[in-house]
Amino acid sequence: MAPLAARPRVFVTRALPGSAPAELLGAAADVDTWEGEEPPPPASLLERSAGCDGLLTMLTDRVDGALLDACPTVRVVANMAVGYDNVDVAAATERGVLVTNTPGVLTETTADLAFALLLASARRIAEGEAAVRAGAWGPWQPSWLLGREVAGATLGIVGPGRIGAAVARRGQGFGMRVLYSGRRDAPEFPGMRVPLDVLLETSDFVSVHVPLSEDTATMFNDEAFRRMKRTATFINTSRGGVVDQPALARALHEGTIAAAALDVTTPEPLPPDAPLLSAPNLLVTPHVGSATGATRERMAALAVEGLLAGLGSERPQHLVNPAAWERRR
Ligand code: DGY
Repeated sequence: MAPLAARPRVFVTRALPGSAPAELLGAAADVDTWEGEEPPPPASLLERSAGCDGLLTMLTDRVDGALLDACPTVRVVANMAVGYDNVDVAAATERGVLVTNTPGVLTETTADLAFALLLASARRIAEGEAAVRAGAWGPWQPSWLLGREVAGATLGIVGPGRIGAAVARRGQGFGMRVLYSGRRDAPEFPGMRVPLDVLLETSDFVSVHVPLSEDTATMFNDEAFRRMKRTATFINTSRGGVVDQPALARALHEGTIAAAALDVTTPEPLPPDAPLLSAPNLLVTPHVGSATGATRERMAALAVEGLLAGLGSERPQHLVNPAAWERRR
């Protein structure tokens, strides 16, 4: 990477995992890092971003036109996530602000978690563990804690991107038949493309891997759950916003589907008294799809690379708004 002409000022909204990414950034820029473990509140995000040239943000930080207008010196927003629904990309593009993300480096890790949720839900791992701790483990019984078969079942992947394909490969390894649906044909995808309705009607496990956008918001609604088999399991490791959560709760309470396993919800964190949590056969993890030390460090490194490239003269490798490159601030 070419050295920067002058030391830019950047605001990093959380301490970065590992030491290398922060060192790389600190060698090239004057870095202000948010000291809290919780995200900066919007007013603090605005205050600390003012006068900066670049921001390194997390998926919890809302970056919109108002923030960018209040911080006209910001030229790059590097989001440490593959998803970037927290950034108003259109507003950034209009203002010539580059937005980068971190695809690729979290694919296998997130697919592992999706498949772990699939297995854990199918084999009722959390219920079994809770029973052991509660002293409810009696003598072996032929009909206790019966789960659902994975081998031979049909896995439907909604969204055949990198993570969807990695989950599909895991499914094949477990002897599943894999279907996928997506807007485009994905010739390399390890599975057969079918229309979404067919996927919902025929899959035993439906795993979601679409980005959150206007097109995908609440796409899993009453109608979608009604199309699914009563024996089906719904798995979501993408974004909570793709699900109509009250509809999912209804589907579980009414037995429209058999089970759900979620790593993402609306809101996050999901409060312990959230109505969804009273639904039966539901497993929820706290948005940990990419949470391994090595993966988070790779994400941080990629975010730093994107930020420094954009602040210099290089076109960042993972630029999500190429149009902004033409009209850079
Ligand atoms: C992402 O990168 O979008 C993930 O949700 C982070 O775990």
